[in-house]
Amino acid sequence: MQDAHLSCQSPTEFCLRQALRMKAVGILTLIGCLVTGAESKIYTRCKLAKIFSRAGLDNYWGFSLGNWICMAYYESGYNTTAQTVLDDGSIDYGIFQINSFVWCRRGKLKENNHCHVACSALITDDLTDAIICAKKIVKETQGMNYWQGWKKHCEGRDLSDWKKSCEVS
Ligand SMILES: *[C@@H]1O[C@H](CO)[C@@H](O)[C@H](O)[C@H]1NC(C)=O
Repeated sequence: MQDAHLSCQSPTEFCLRQALRMKAVGILTLIGCLVTGAESKIYTRCKLAKIFSRAGLDNYWGFSLGNWICMAYYESGYNTTAQTVLDDGSIDYGIFQINSFVWCRRGKLKENNHCHVACSALITDDLTDAIICAKKIVKETQGMNYWQGWKKHCEGRDLSDWKKSCEVS
């Protein structure tokens, strides 16, 4: 069972392949993968830089890639499945810790859902929806002040450090 559980920390494909390989506990692993969300993932800084760059975040609304990388680090530690329940009962979701009260739809709760997206779509390893929503936040709130982690640790700093260790095409 230990193995079956651990394999679910990896991306879906690996998880499912593992499930097929392990005949004895295969079915259990498969069920585990489906139930616990096989898509949880901690990205490396360089991988994120590449994904962010391709998604057009570099200099989006004037914010360099370093700002996005720094923000994601202080908000979630690059953890795509990070969730934080706040005092008011709303929840911050995913790598950018996007809040359910204003920005996404949580179950059948009638909240504002400005990003027109299910909150659950913001905690997958496919960052497409999270990035689209983050762009909308920057646009609608006119900057990155939405993110406390960014204000506290990133704003006004030299954030070009990541370039030394990553190659972004
Ligand atoms: C990522 O976030 C999930 C959900 O909050 C948590 O269970 C998991 O332990 C986190 N992973 C790491 C490595 O912090």
